[in-house]
Amino acid sequence: MEALKGIRVLDMTHVQAGPTSSQLLAWMGADVIKLESPAGDATRGQLRDVPNADSLYFTMLNCNKRSITVNMKSPDGKAVFVDLLKKSDILMENFGPGVLDRLGFPWEKVHEINPRVIMGSIKGFGSSGPYADFKAYENVAQAMGGAMSTTGVPDGPPYVTGAQIGDSGTGLHLAIGLLAALHQRERTGEGQYVEVAMMDGVMNLCRVKFRDHQRLTRQELSEFSVPTKGLKATPRAGNDSGGGQLGYAIKCKPGGPNDYVYIVVQEAVWEPLAKRIGPDLGLPDLVNDPRFAKIGDRRKNQNEMWPLIEKFASKYTKGEFMAVLNELDVPAGLIMSTEDLANDEHVRGREMWLELDHPERGNWFNVGMPIKLSASPAKVKRSPLLGEHTAEVLKEVLGWSDAEIEAKKQAGAFSLPPKPAKAQ
Ligand SMILES: CC(C)(COP(=O)(O)OP(=O)(O)OC[C@H]1O[C@@H](n2cnc3c(N)ncnc32)[C@H](O)[C@@H]1OP(=O)(O)O)[C@@H](O)C(=O)NCCC(=O)NCCS
Repeated sequence: MEALKGIRVLDMTHVQAGPTSSQLLAWMGADVIKLESPAGDATRGQLRDVPNADSLYFTMLNCNKRSITVNMKSPDGKAVFVDLLKKSDILMENFGPGVLDRLGFPWEKVHEINPRVIMGSIKGFGSSGPYADFKAYENVAQAMGGAMSTTGVPDGPPYVTGAQIGDSGTGLHLAIGLLAALHQRERTGEGQYVEVAMMDGVMNLCRVKFRDHQRLTRQELSEFSVPTKGLKATPRAGNDSGGGQLGYAIKCKPGGPNDYVYIVVQEAVWEPLAKRIGPDLGLPDLVNDPRFAKIGDRRKNQNEMWPLIEKFASKYTKGEFMAVLNELDVPAGLIMSTEDLANDEHVRGREMWLELDHPERGNWFNVGMPIKLSASPAKVKRSPLLGEHTAEVLKEVLGWSDAEIEAKKQAGAFSLPPKPAKAQ
């Protein structure tokens, strides 16, 4: 049986941060009812690659959900929302500041309508403090949470990371909070309000950068490849490892944009590594070179060590270099492109790149469920069309008849979708 079977989620989330969270709950077995405005989640139409079909932006974040449309700005729509809220365990939203208040449903009201319901909200900056009124997107959160100021090369501009730590990272935090609140409700019978600010989530993911920030008040950061003397804030550190061990991205043959291996020169592996690469480089005594003898020496002289390793690696493809490192038990990672990953046997084997069908767009792929539950593995199903389940949900959850559904539709509470288009 699925872990969250029997848990009903009324999911008003949109764009990425919220939907990524409710998708995880759906993959763990919750009945996630995505409540959309009659126009639908804006991402359905953003960055479309197939004309008139839901975009990959939408399909990749909304699997295993049911979609209903409810016009929250009409009195009948609000009444449908209230009825559904009474039958739900969790309400989720990530609207801009004040949106739910304007619709007439702040947390206090939600709690009054259904004291058992747990409400999960994502905001850019939370509901308190000087930034509370600001909207946020992924890169805004990366900028405000410390990720951008610590990402990039020291003498270049701040960079965003490719991983969606602001949106998907915050979605993860919210899912954890909701599961804890569900657990507490088992004991108390009461729901509670779970809020995650994207800025807070990014700060949490930048924790080690704040470790370094505090170390700077007492010492230089000896493991950094750039000077840190006199700095007051953790600098951008290129591809430095960020930990006690030294690391770097080593360029391999033939020198394309992803022909790199990230290598961590752990204390224990320097000797075998130096013995392996030294003779090839015409440096049979590299293992005894005092510049690299101890970790402290290697930290100090890492800008001389990496070019040596890179010279050795220049004769190998990244796969070949990786094989050499694996033989020596050196922790290392191929720089995998999306193309590499989409075709990787390990990834397919772990169901992390899944082929799905869709009535409008035909076959497509989604990244799989990264949390593997042994007793209830996720079965990934396609995302819903806009309003695909409106009538189904109103009948099943609220016990409405076809006549009632038609009457409320005429009153403007929701619109019912046209028949799905054929696959292209
Ligand atoms: C993402 C974000 C910037 C988008 O801003 P936006 O497009 O202006 O959308 P908002 O959430 O502010 O507003 C949504 C509007 O749709 C309306 N709406 C939402 N659901 C509706 C429904 N079912 N029926 C009718 N109207 C609906 C809301 O009432 C609101 O209208 P209003 O501005 O007249 O009050 C903003 O939602 C936000 O800051 N969210 C919190 C942080 C976040 O999650 N960001 C990451 C997104 S990946």
